[in-house]
Amino acid sequence: MQRVYELLKKAGVYYLATMEGDQPRVRPFGTVHIFDGKLYIQTGKVKPVSQQMMKNPRIEICAMKDGEVIRVQATAVEDDRVEAKASMLDSYPGLKARYAATDNNTQVLYLKDAVATITSNAFNVNKGPEIIKF
Ligand SMILES: Cc1cc2nc3c(=O)[nH]c(=O)nc-3n(C[C@H](O)[C@H](O)[C@H](O)COP(=O)(O)O)c2cc1C
Repeated sequence: MQRVYELLKKAGVYYLATMEGDQPRVRPFGTVHIFDGKLYIQTGKVKPVSQQMMKNPRIEICAMKDGEVIRVQATAVEDDRVEAKASMLDSYPGLKARYAATDNNTQVLYLKDAVATITSNAFNVNKGPEIIKF
C-alpha cells in the first residue's frame, strides 16, 4: 500500500473513475493519504463524484509518473470520523480554505478490496506488471 501511496503522491494527479448508472465518469483528483493503516481520498459531498460513489462504490484510479502507469480498482468506503477528515486536511493544508473536518461537506473514503496494477510504459517487455492487493 505504501508503494501505491508513494506513486500516486509523486504523480500529483490521478484520474478517478466512477459509474453513473451505466455511464463511466472520470475526473482529476489529487488527494491521497494514509490514515489508520488505510489509503484515503477526499472529496466534497455536494459533488456528483461523491454521490456516484455513494450509489456505486466501485471505482478505478489511474495515474502515470516516471514511466510507470498505475491502475487501482477498489471499493470506496466513506469514513465519517472527524479524526479521519482532520488527518486528511492536515496533510493538505491548502484545502482548509474550502473544507473543514466538521463541516457537512468534507468526505473522506478509504479504498477497500483494492488491486493495484503497476506497469512500466517503457518498451520493456521483460518487466511484468506489479500487482499489489490491500
Ligand atoms: C489537479 C486536480 C486535482 C483535484 N483533486 C481533487 C480531489 O482530490 N478531490 C476532489 O473532490 N476534487 C478534486 N479536484 C476537482 C475535481 O476534479 C472536480 O471537482 C470535478 O468536477 C469533480 O468531479 P464531478 O464533477 O464528477 O463531481 C481536482 C482537480 C484538479 C484539476
